[in-house]
Amino acid sequence: MIPARKTQIPGPRSSELCRRLQRWESRNVTFLSADFPIFWERAEGVNIWDVDGNRYIDLTAGFGVAALGYSVPRVAVAGAEQLERLPLGLGDVHPSAAKAKLLEALSRLTFEAWGRGEAKSILGCSGSDAVEAAMKTACLATGRPHLIAFQGSYHGLAYGAMEATELGDFRKPFLEQMAGRVRFLPFPNCWRCPWGKGGRPSSECDPGCRSALAGELKAAFSSRSIGAILVEPMLGRGGMVPPPDWFLPLLREVADEEGALLILDEIFTGFFRTGPRFACERWKVVPDLLCVGKPLGGGFPISACIGPRKVMDAWPESDGEALHTSTFLGSPLGCRMACAFLEEIEERRPGLAVEEKGGRLLAGLRDLTFPESPLRNARGSGLFVGVEVMGEGGRPSAALAGRLITALLQAGVILLAGGPDRHVLSFTPPLVITWEDLDWSLTALRAILGRLAAQPGSLPRSMSKL
Ligand SMILES: Cc1ncc(COP(=O)(O)O)c(C=O)c1O
Repeated sequence: MIPARKTQIPGPRSSELCRRLQRWESRNVTFLSADFPIFWERAEGVNIWDVDGNRYIDLTAGFGVAALGYSVPRVAVAGAEQLERLPLGLGDVHPSAAKAKLLEALSRLTFEAWGRGEAKSILGCSGSDAVEAAMKTACLATGRPHLIAFQGSYHGLAYGAMEATELGDFRKPFLEQMAGRVRFLPFPNCWRCPWGKGGRPSSECDPGCRSALAGELKAAFSSRSIGAILVEPMLGRGGMVPPPDWFLPLLREVADEEGALLILDEIFTGFFRTGPRFACERWKVVPDLLCVGKPLGGGFPISACIGPRKVMDAWPESDGEALHTSTFLGSPLGCRMACAFLEEIEERRPGLAVEEKGGRLLAGLRDLTFPESPLRNARGSGLFVGVEVMGEGGRPSAALAGRLITALLQAGVILLAGGPDRHVLSFTPPLVITWEDLDWSLTALRAILGRLAAQPGSLPRSMSKL
């Protein structure tokens, strides 16, 4: 459904709640301003209603969680039934049938589907949990403690995962507490080429970039005791960047040569977000460990690190005290909702038309990257799409991206920006978004660009002919 406005945005109830939040929540958490945030009250499909009754389209899918939209009946019924019957288990002591069922499903949909036999998993409650389980597994399986990760990466903010998160300033105040286990190499971002060959779409990547990265990988392996390469198949929070086609196959090749593990973080890209079930399937690359999370629980916080038996069996048999666990690990509620989510998305997958909708979104954004527009470099795969916002001198502009996001919110569209310069508008709508809602959102963006251009001083001078 298209947005419907009842009050100013944020409305009076949101503004009142904002004052309460300001008083009671640690100040680094929620960004508060005259324009932000709106307080959510309910949601359905791709729509959010705020506490003032305004209706929005959510083009973020709740950070990529609501792949099937909000309030999916099958997931809601499973969750409600489980909540009543058995919300908790003793995770690593006395689990539930739902946990066994989920673990089987994760194996079937990943390594078994890729012809690599049965897989085992470690469940967690967040993306960070899954990444940290993978980091520990790699250390046990190879006996080598260091990792390679990539510039612009985001793997979570718990201490272990944060060591591998290069994006932004998240690590900066805590650098002295980092263990120094991670070596960052350049991610081949063809729109900002780390080897100076920029300006090409990833399909036209210069072969020299492949050799350059191969050289850096070799040097990294020879200088440290590296047991794993940890990578997002496409940078998510790092700016919605699909890599050139040689990238994942090269990492697979090097990991094999060096006897290291390839860990794919598909927490954002997994479960059809980019088109195929997992982004790595596009390049037929099979990882040694796969991290999933976000949409997995149909809204419940649950994640998993999945790997073939020969890798996962690096963990010793439990002697009654689990080496890796947590209070809510494999909660019956989360496992039940995750099973329902997986059944639903597998059934509905043929009708989701993710690649077709993504193609329409990308084409619509490319239409908005004409010379006078501040938008540039639209890219993506499936419903995982980004476009850069440029300001004066053609430089990335977080300020202008922020203005566009605020104006979109006023129009009823919820969107976020990412990338190292926070200037990439990131589109990850629920996969069930309708063509109508998609087109409506693009039209709203076009109208906002037009309005901004009409206000003197709103856009850089070179763009004011818009
Ligand atoms: C690729 C990727 N990995 C890991 C994480 C961390 O997940 P969480 O916030 O659930 O810890 C995120 C979150 O955005 C992510 O995008």
